[in-house]
Formats: sequence, structure tokens, C-alpha cells
Amino acid sequence: MWTHKHLLGLEDLSRDDLLTVLDLARSFKKDGKLLTDRRDTLKGKTVLLLFFEPSTRTAMSFSAAAKRLSADVVSFNKATSSTAKGETLLDTAKNIEAMGGIDVVVVRHSATGAPHLLARSIRASVVNAGDGAHEHPTQGLLDLFTMRERFGRVEGLKVAIVGDIAHSRVARSNIHGLRKLGAEVTVCGPATLLSDDMRSLGVAVSYDLDAILPTMDVVNMLRLQKERLAGPLLPSDRDYTMRFGLTRERADRMKKGAIVMHPGPANRGVEIAPEVADATLRSSEDASSLRSTSGPRSVILEQVANGVAVRQAVLSLVAS
Ligand code: CP
Repeated sequence: MWTHKHLLGLEDLSRDDLLTVLDLARSFKKDGKLLTDRRDTLKGKTVLLLFFEPSTRTAMSFSAAAKRLSADVVSFNKATSSTAKGETLLDTAKNIEAMGGIDVVVVRHSATGAPHLLARSIRASVVNAGDGAHEHPTQGLLDLFTMRERFGRVEGLKVAIVGDIAHSRVARSNIHGLRKLGAEVTVCGPATLLSDDMRSLGVAVSYDLDAILPTMDVVNMLRLQKERLAGPLLPSDRDYTMRFGLTRERADRMKKGAIVMHPGPANRGVEIAPEVADATLRSSEDASSLRSTSGPRSVILEQVANGVAVRQAVLSLVAS
């Protein structure tokens, strides 16, 4: 049974909590397709989208999810707000809450722990939509959902998370969720982009993508987060692509039935080749039935669609 007022990170959730969200998210899809009908679950409630960092997928899908549950949606626009005059996150949230009727605050902020601060300070439920390099729990959940839908299970899957692990909140949330559901996780990237705490999270560490690629069921390519790279951590994009980019040639060496994921937005031609990202596996198609190992593997747009279902589930649970 779900007992959480907030969703701050997957580190805080139990295996049963994760399965509760994933099972509920399934009810927002039918025959592999997202249901777009309107339900009354959040009728009379208001969801505030409080994004201090840019977002396309997360902000838009929370908005779609809330509206399909009949909630009112209020969106904060950092560019035109009093943040430019130095107003703090907490003052911003408290002032908007003082206008009345806010039930759920979905927050994205560059500071680790920003959602935790809000959860301690305001009345509404808080959902973390990404805090610094810490966690992005709904991305982790939608990635778990996508793997579970594709393979029928998460337990026992071999999952590689590749790239800029050190700066990735997506990697951290995926690791917590995947470990709790029994997947075997390997993080792979250049030593300068792998943080020291990784092994303590129960994952294998590799610096050689070519060595691990043929054994993986899932390869989740991360965006090179140039906005968070402090100093020269990489010789060049070209060097990075040569060692860690998912090129067509590398994708052809993946095992039959393996899938390619990316949280977006992608640096096309850097961490993932356009022809790999765009080789979309249709929802009815099973990669394991393809005659050769080459062929479509990308479930990137499926992840985006699943993000709406997962966020509908999360909003339903925290608002109830
Ligand atoms: N995956 C993800 O968080 O994308 P956005 O930054 O566009 O929300």
C-alpha cells in the first residue's frame, strides 16, 4: 500500500512501492498504447509545475498527466518570474502556495535536495522532477516501466547505463530502482565521468563499452551534460564518441532482443548515432524475432509515452 505524501527519490521507495506505481501506470495504457481519455481522479485539485531548469519531456508530460486526471495546472515561468530579482526557491513556493489551493508541487531545480527542502516547508505534496545530479525519480520509474513492458520483468535483466554517470540524476534513480527490482546493473563511461560512490550502490563498473555491449539486454545511453561539466573532463566529443558513442556498428553487435534507451534530450552524433536513435522498435515488434542482430532497437519515444502513464500514476498516488 502506498503511504508516501511526497515522491523525492527512488532511494526512499521499497520494492512494493515501485511495483505499486508500475502496476497503476499500466492502467493508463491499453494494447501498448497510451489512453488519452480524461478521468476524474484529481478533479478539484491543483498541480503546480515549478521548473527552475529547462525541460520538454518532464514538464509537458506532467502537464498532460495532470490534465488527463482533471487537475488544474499552474505553471511557473522562471524567465518572467521574480527569481531574476533574487527571490529564493522557498519564498517562491510559499508565495504561490499562499494564493491557495495548491495540492501538488512538481519541482525541478539545479540544487541537490531542493525538493526535500520544499517537502519540509510547504503543505502540498512534492514530486521531484530532477534535483541537480541527485535523482530524477519519475524518469527512473518510466525507464523501469518500459523495460518491464518490453521484457515482462525487470528481475535478472542485464542493464548498462552508459556515459556521463557522475552528473546524472537519471543514472542514480535508475540504479536505485533497478537494484530493488533485481536487475544486474553495469555503469560504463570514462573514468572522469564515473563517480567513486558507484560500487557502493551495488553496480559493476566498466570503462570498456565494446567489452560489455554484447551481453546486455538494455543499453541506456545518457546525455553528455555539458552544462554540468566543470573543466576539461573529456578530450573532445569525437574522442568520446569513438570510445562510448552508440554507433550503428556498435548497435549491430548487441545481442538479439536487446533494446536501446535514452532519457533525452540526445546529443545526436555524440553519445548516440541518429540512425540508432531513429531505428524505432514498433510496439508490436519483438526484437528477438529479428533474423539478425542488426535492426531496430530504439524504444526512446516509447519511454516518452510511458512517462505520461507513470506520471499519471505518481500524481494519483501522492494526491490521494
Ligand atoms: N528526460 C528528461 O528529463 O527530459 P527533459 O529535460 O526534457 O524533461
